Amino acid sequence: MDKRPIGVFDSGLGGLTAVAELKRLLPHEDIVYFGDTARVPYGNRSRDTIEKFVRQDIEFLLSKDVKIILAACCTASTIVTDELRAGFPVPILGAIEATAQTAVQSTKNSRITILGTSATVKSGAFERAILAHAVEMQNPDVQTIGVACPLFVPLIENGYADKMPIAEWIVKDHLQRALEFGADTVILGCTHYPLISDLISDVLGGVTTVNSGAESAKQLATYIHEHDMENARDHRGACAFYVSDSCEQFRRHAGMFLQDDDVMQASQVSIDALVP
Ligand code: DGL
Repeated sequence: MDKRPIGVFDSGLGGLTAVAELKRLLPHEDIVYFGDTARVPYGNRSRDTIEKFVRQDIEFLLSKDVKIILAACCTASTIVTDELRAGFPVPILGAIEATAQTAVQSTKNSRITILGTSATVKSGAFERAILAHAVEMQNPDVQTIGVACPLFVPLIENGYADKMPIAEWIVKDHLQRALEFGADTVILGCTHYPLISDLISDVLGGVTTVNSGAESAKQLATYIHEHDMENARDHRGACAFYVSDSCEQFRRHAGMFLQDDDVMQASQVSIDALVP
């Protein structure tokens, strides 16, 4: 048993899709969430910059004495390699492996579309994970395309996910190639995208969407169970939220991801304090 909290981070609010699932699966766990809202989005930055930010995000969560960290951000997860993990004292899980595995299990026409930020698509991380799982499952013919959707995160972070027709226009405009590819399974390869999953399925004609926030949360739940790291089952878990920009903006938009009062307890931390 381990009573320490679970640490979760994202560039902004998207990682709350993982928190929502963690709260459902592990109601007895305490969670510390960090959203780097002063520097969101990460997805159009260089790998070096993203790595610097990710290291700072991890250091901040370690200062809260967490027992495990979830990079609930696919962009951040592209740089969570074994080499990076080796430099930190707690396990660090990402959002790519479990999502890729579920997508491979789901596809019937052996075609998977990966939607993500420019950095995620450029990294090829989902393609590599899909190929590895496809080989394992003796289905090496799985074909993929990666489609960068740079306007989705600003649309969602600014509260426009349900504002039609602008949201619909942006989604349709980004998904033309995906429509032509005809995959039956679409990875929401950014933890923000579950907020527009209905719109994405409508535009792509009823595809199966795989939610990277939920899949990464399930993987973490399995991990702490298998490693005997769970808190006592009779404990009532609480969440503490930290952001690097105004708490007011966080409160205003976080309700889209999490429908509860926990969000009211968000605190702002200075970005300078995160620099190791
Ligand atoms: N939620 C992040 C992800 O999963 C958003 C990326 C960004 O900040 O651009 O990739």
